[in-house]
Amino acid sequence: MSVPLLQAEGLNLRFGTTTALDDVGLNLHPGEVVAIVGESGSGKSTLLRVLSGQLAPADGSVLYRDADGRSHPVHAMSEAALRRLMRTEWGFVHQSARDGLRMGVSAGGNVGERLMAVGARNYGGIRAQAAEWLRRVEIDDARIDDLPRVFSGGMQQRLQIARVLVSRPRLVLMDEPTGGLDVSVQAKLLDLIRNLVADLGIAVLLVTHDIAAARLLAHRILVMRHGRVVEQGLTDRVLDDPQHPYTQLLVSSVLAA
Ligand SMILES: Nc1ncnc2c1ncn2[C@@H]1O[C@H](COP(=O)(O)OP(=O)(O)OP(=O)(O)O)[C@@H](O)[C@H]1O
Ligand SMILES: [Mg+2]
Repeated sequence: MSVPLLQAEGLNLRFGTTTALDDVGLNLHPGEVVAIVGESGSGKSTLLRVLSGQLAPADGSVLYRDADGRSHPVHAMSEAALRRLMRTEWGFVHQSARDGLRMGVSAGGNVGERLMAVGARNYGGIRAQAAEWLRRVEIDDARIDDLPRVFSGGMQQRLQIARVLVSRPRLVLMDEPTGGLDVSVQAKLLDLIRNLVADLGIAVLLVTHDIAAARLLAHRILVMRHGRVVEQGLTDRVLDDPQHPYTQLLVSSVLAA
C-alpha cells in the first residue's frame, strides 16, 4: 500500500451552533479518486476548505506529503507556502468557473499562467502547450485568444479543468465541478474528467451531490451527514450494499428518481 499524500484526523469545526465537521478523518493515496457525497449543508465544502488550508479546524490535523516525500502539517504552513502549493502541486476546480478562471485574460492566457507558475518561460512553448490543452478539453484551439466570458458554461468549465491540469498537479480538489450545467453537458464533462485523471494519475477529492458522478469517477466514497462521515468504502460496495440508513436513503432516492 502506498503512503497517503493527504492524511486528516479528528477534524472538528463549528460555526456558532452549527457543527460543520464532527471528528472527520480521511486518507487519500496517490492516484486515488475519492467522492464526498451528502445532502446540502452536510459539511462537504467546509471539509475541502479545511483540507486545503483555507480554513483552520478547531481540532484535528491535516498532513500533506509533497512530491519530495516531505510531510507538511497544512495548518502550520505559511500563507506564501500554501499559495505556492496551490499553484503547483495542488489544484482546485470550483463549481463556478468565475471563481476558477480569470475572466479578463484570454483562454490561452488562463492555461499559460499556470505553466509560468511552475517555471515555464518560453512564450512559444507555453502557447503551444496551452493550445494542446484546449484541444484535450475539446475546445477549438482557434479560440485561444478569446476571453472566457464569451464561452458557454460547459466550455468555461472545461477551460478551468485545462488550467488546473496543465501543470500536472498531484492533488486536485473539485467542488461540484458539474453543478449548474445541463445534464448532457455534465455527462460529457464527467467523461472527460475521468479520462484525464486516469491518464495523469492525479489524486482527486470530488465533492458532489450526484451519486452517478461518484459511481463513474470514484474509487472510494465518503458519505457525510451533519458534519460526520457516516459511511465510507469502495464505491461499488457503498452504492450496491449501503450499510448506513442515510446512505440507503440516498441511494434509493436516486433509483426512484
Ligand atoms: N462561513 C460560514 N459561517 C457560518 N456557517 C457556515 C459557514 N460556512 C459553512 N457554514 C455552515 O456549515 C454547514 C456546512 O456547510 P458546507 O458549505 O460545508 O455544506 P455543503 O455540504 O458544502 O453544502 P452544499 O451541498 O449546499 O454546498 C452549513 O450548516 C453551513 O451553513
Ligand atoms: Mg458545498
